[in-house]
Formats: sequence, structure tokens, C-alpha cells
Amino acid sequence: MTQNKRILSGIQPTGNLHLGNYFGAINNFVLLQKEYECFFMLANMHAITVKYEPQILEDNILETTAALVASGIDPKNNTIFVQSSVSAHAELAWIFNCTARIGWLNRMTQFKEKAGSNKEKASVGLLTYPILMAADILLYRATHVPVGEDQKQHLELCRDIAIKFNNDFKANDFFVTPEPIIPENISRVMSLRDGTKKMSKSEESDLSRINLTDDADLILKKIQKGKTDSEAISESILKSNTRPEARNLINIFSALTGKKMQDVITNWNGKAFSEFKKELGLLLIEKICPIGKEIIKLKSDPVFLKQILKDGSKKAQEVANTNLMEIKKIVGLV
Ligand code: TYM
Repeated sequence: MTQNKRILSGIQPTGNLHLGNYFGAINNFVLLQKEYECFFMLANMHAITVKYEPQILEDNILETTAALVASGIDPKNNTIFVQSSVSAHAELAWIFNCTARIGWLNRMTQFKEKAGSNKEKASVGLLTYPILMAADILLYRATHVPVGEDQKQHLELCRDIAIKFNNDFKANDFFVTPEPIIPENISRVMSLRDGTKKMSKSEESDLSRINLTDDADLILKKIQKGKTDSEAISESILKSNTRPEARNLINIFSALTGKKMQDVITNWNGKAFSEFKKELGLLLIEKICPIGKEIIKLKSDPVFLKQILKDGSKKAQEVANTNLMEIKKIVGLV
């Protein structure tokens, strides 16, 4: 393992993980685990920034742990842990609340999207969430952060916080500015019902997403019902933004086969989406169903999953507490 290359990334344990989480984040976690020292965090403190059910949140922690392991993350060589089991995250977030500027938060597009028209009624946590995210990353002095494209702006804020902290406290390069690792071929998987919105756990219709635990029949049904336009497959999918649903399906196909979108279009040029969708459904089944089956199997062994998290918390606490002590010294909170 190359020294000093450390990853921290997080996933909210808020329910079924979907194809967007898989291609945006988990697939990269699996690929990068050999090269980097990795900390994978279940971001339950982020999940409480919006309305939620405490009991479901707890259950989802085990489900998300199972999903990471089922996707191929080795829990022995990587640290998988629950955010709230390491109290240093909350402590550092407070310190960064005093480093970050209000104007920076006001620019965050995800807050605007999630708070919607009633921003005054949103929780303060939803607004300051990117600061907690910066604390998650910088607490481990992570050098790289694999995420989907939707988290890019939060990563930029994290980098701004690291730079300002180093300057304010004349701490030289105490914090490295972490680099995002965003998948090049498929950085944003879109909803199957509306190609202009990202695939998300919070969209009401389950038909809008492929969950990692969907069975073969459900996957086929969702792909068949997925929105497309009446035109055949053609170059126009790449040229303009007028066919977002078509583009999304081609993009998913390209990610599954490792082929460039242009090559997928060349192969399928002139064909109808009905035919293409059959092939896409089969490719998805091949990729997703073994993971889904493994998730279900692992979930039947909560003792095993809880042990992974217990070991992970211990390792995470050691690194986090050592770094927090240094940070507290720098800011004068001894
Ligand atoms: P979350 O739980 O919304 O999503 C987890 C990961 O999945 C990616 N993702 C997607 N990628 C492509 N297409 C999509 N439709 C899609 N939907 C989700 C996200 O980009 C993310 O990588 N704030 C984070 C969790 C977090 C975190 C962190 C991440 C907390 N602290 C520190 C990195 C570092 C979030 O809500 O992710």
C-alpha cells in the first residue's frame, strides 16, 4: 500500500442503496481499496438533518454495512464504521463552524434543492451539513474522497475550509486539501422516470431507481417502464440535452459494459429502445442480483455485521482522537 494515500468516504444509511450509489461511490470504493488506506463511514449524523424514523435508521446501518461487504469491500483490510460512534466528528464540526463562512454555505445547491421553497423551516443541520462532511474527511486527514458528482460542491467547501484553517492558524500544510475521485464514465445516474433528476432514495416512486436488493423480475419491470422518447437510438442522444432519459440508459449500459457511450450508440444505431432495454435489463441482473442476494444473506447474520462496525469504530476512534488532539492544540482548545 502506498503510504499517505488515505480515503474517507461516507454513505447515509437511509434505506435501499441504489444504482446511483453503486456507480457513483461503492464501485470506486471496491476498486480503490487495494491502493489506499480506506475509511468507509455510515453517515447517520447526516441522516438526521431531515425527517426520519429512529428505528429505521438503526436497521439501515446493518443493511448498508451488508451492502458494502456484499459489493466487495473487504472489512478486514478497510475500516467500516458508524459516524456517531466517533464523537470527534461532532467536535471538529464545531471548530469548522467557526472557520467556514456563512456566505459559503449559502451557495450550496444541495441545500437549496433539499430545503425547497420553505428554507426557513429547514433544520440548521441541513444547512451546516457540508461542514460536518468536511470534519468527516479532514479528521482522518484523508487525501482522496471517492464520491458521485452531486457531492463535488461539498468537497470544494471542504477544501476551502482546509485552506482557511491552515492560513488562519499559520498551520502550514496541517490539512492536505483532499482530492475528489469522481467516476469519469458515470458520475451521476439519473432517475428512470425523469432524466433531469438524479436517481435518489428520497424520490417517492420506487420505479425511479434500481435498488441493490431488487430481484430480476423487478429490475426488468423497472427498466421496461423506464421513460424514454419515441425516437430510435441515434447520435442525437450525445449531441444535445433534449433526450435526458435516453442518455441515462445509454450511460448505464456503457458503465455496465465498460464501453464508451459513443460505441454503445454506434452498435445500437437505428434500433428501438424496446430492444435495447431487454439487453440492459439482463446486464443489470447480472451485475446487481448477486450483490442483492449477498446483502440478504449477510443481513441474516447481524452478529457478524455488528462486529465489523465495532472493530471499525475502534480503529476510526484511534486515528480521529489523535488528530483531534493536535487540532485542539492548534486552535487553543487544550
Ligand atoms: P449519499 O448517502 O447521498 O450518497 C452516497 C454516495 O452515493 C453517491 N450518489 C450518486 N452517485 C451518482 N448518481 C447518483 N444518482 C447518486 N446518488 C448518490 C453520492 O455522491 C455519494 O458519494 N453527504 C454524503 C455522505 C457523506 C460523505 C462524507 C461523503 C457524509 N460525509 C464525507 C464523502 C465524504 C451523502 O449524503 O451521500
